[in-house]
Amino acid sequence: MCGIVGYIGPKEKKEILLDGLQELEYRGYDSAGIAVIQGEKLNNFKAVGKLKNLREKTKNYTSKGFGISIGHTRWATHGKPTELNAHPHLGAYSYVVHNGIIENYQELKKELQQEGVTFLSQTDTETIVHLFEKYHNEGFAPFEAFQKMVERLEGAYATLLITEAAPDTIFFAKNGSPMLIGFDGEEVYFASSDTPIIGRANEVYYLEDGEYGYVQNGKVHLFDGNGEKAFQTQPLIADKAMAQKEGYRFFMEKEIYEQSRVMGETMMGRVLEEEIVLDELNADFFEGINAIKICACGTSYHSALTAAYLFERLAKIRCDVEIASEFRYKDPLLSNDTLFVTISQSGETADTLEALKMAKRAGLKSLSICNVDNSSIVRESDTAILTRAGIEKGVASTKAFATQTMVLWMLALYVGQVKQTLPQELLKEEIDAMLRTPKALVVTDELHAKLHRLSKRYLHGHGFFFIGRDIFYPLALEGALKLKEISYLHAEGYPAGEMKHGPIALADAELFTIALMPKTMHYDKIKSNVEELSARDATICAISPLPFDLADDFVQTQYSSHPMVEFFEMMVVTQLLALEISVRLGNDVDMPRNLAKSVTVE
Ligand code: G6P
Repeated sequence: MCGIVGYIGPKEKKEILLDGLQELEYRGYDSAGIAVIQGEKLNNFKAVGKLKNLREKTKNYTSKGFGISIGHTRWATHGKPTELNAHPHLGAYSYVVHNGIIENYQELKKELQQEGVTFLSQTDTETIVHLFEKYHNEGFAPFEAFQKMVERLEGAYATLLITEAAPDTIFFAKNGSPMLIGFDGEEVYFASSDTPIIGRANEVYYLEDGEYGYVQNGKVHLFDGNGEKAFQTQPLIADKAMAQKEGYRFFMEKEIYEQSRVMGETMMGRVLEEEIVLDELNADFFEGINAIKICACGTSYHSALTAAYLFERLAKIRCDVEIASEFRYKDPLLSNDTLFVTISQSGETADTLEALKMAKRAGLKSLSICNVDNSSIVRESDTAILTRAGIEKGVASTKAFATQTMVLWMLALYVGQVKQTLPQELLKEEIDAMLRTPKALVVTDELHAKLHRLSKRYLHGHGFFFIGRDIFYPLALEGALKLKEISYLHAEGYPAGEMKHGPIALADAELFTIALMPKTMHYDKIKSNVEELSARDATICAISPLPFDLADDFVQTQYSSHPMVEFFEMMVVTQLLALEISVRLGNDVDMPRNLAKSVTVE
């Protein structure tokens, strides 16, 4: 996730870009840059780190008078957060900014390199600008060249391009990633969301996927697959705080809704039709590795527990999981044939980082799965796979968990692939299920309304038990953690089959059981476990695709073709339930008491 701003008009462009990027910093802040063409003069500035570094770098630069300009704040997906990898990317005479992932960039890059183009960065974005210049150099007019370039791009993009070949024009294209156009008379703005243009533009047009075009002389020319088209602008809302949350009440709510889309980004270029491709890992990365140990904290620990089932079942490789703070002081026995995996949303969690350092000292190969490039854990690991969830603001982690689990599922398949322990047929089935996941993560109005309604019945009682079996046990742990984090009610996750060995003593009408009852995994077993609880008068809320008579409340899920697809759909249900209970209790959903997003102390 990155942020984009563009402006064409007579005003001081530097200020418009920097102020706009400031509003988008929540989308990424590992580097930023701007490019301005004014008359014949082209200026470009980039800086690593937060926007204030770019402000400092540009403090003596002014850009009043008619001109065109683009800016970008980056959240790395391809290539480290360095100045060379920061946008705007330069060709010979053009600049481009981009948000999204160009899925076929390697193929395009190879083609351009064979034609003699030199690449300066490791980004997928740089291919856009070289592709444009290639067509322009072949004799196509700037817009024709841009059009030809757009036709070649696969994947997600919101992109702006400026070129000395057309110094009064901004070219734009959108597919999958957000972008809008703001209007104030003859002045035209571009941005990834409303906030940068609030107070500047008064009308707005939200670009649709597949639309592209250019702006010149205060007029926007909009195209799609069928040629030039008319469009209708709408008045711009004026509330910035509201705009940052994109209409949702809380960041956590926005992040729950985003999961379907970001899952697509996590898979992009990695999940192919019959194969998992992880560019981050060398071909021999798993050579000599016979076991996997995962260390993590909190929610990341729960994705690790899920992964342990997947590694053993799918890849036939031994996997064990430890809470990082426990691992650190237990004098663990470590051997060199074990891959040490750390999972962390922030990449800064002190206990996880220390566990990693210990494993490295013991000579283990390390891999991190992380949402933040260049974080301490990523830097410390031999290699890292980024989860591409975009910045997560709600303290209670949602989309980070979803994308971690997805990456781990991919990794399990990848290991099965390279170690040849996973039959091709099964791999294909798993990949098909993976590709269906984004659909199962869509939050429908009916589902949200149902959980809103149900939530009023779960505001009291003496506790919650979330129960599940197999991978639904870690999901039960995660569901319970979400609930306690933001509702402050007591909740526990438990393996369903273990309830009879103690916790069932707590069962009465005031004990709320949230039962995860997937159709594709041990349905009859968990059904019996729930029946035992029901017989002791516990209040049961069943989440299942199959109707269940004994449930006091029932949330029917839609997808029941594969355990992981069921897993992700049920995950959304538990997240929304926690959210709605918290809202009813009047708690601060995004910043719950006593917690921190990133815990950098032991
Ligand atoms: C804190 C956060 C949790 C998170 C845990 C691990 O406790 O509040 O949401 O799961 O740290 O964080 P990490 O960034 O390493 O995933």
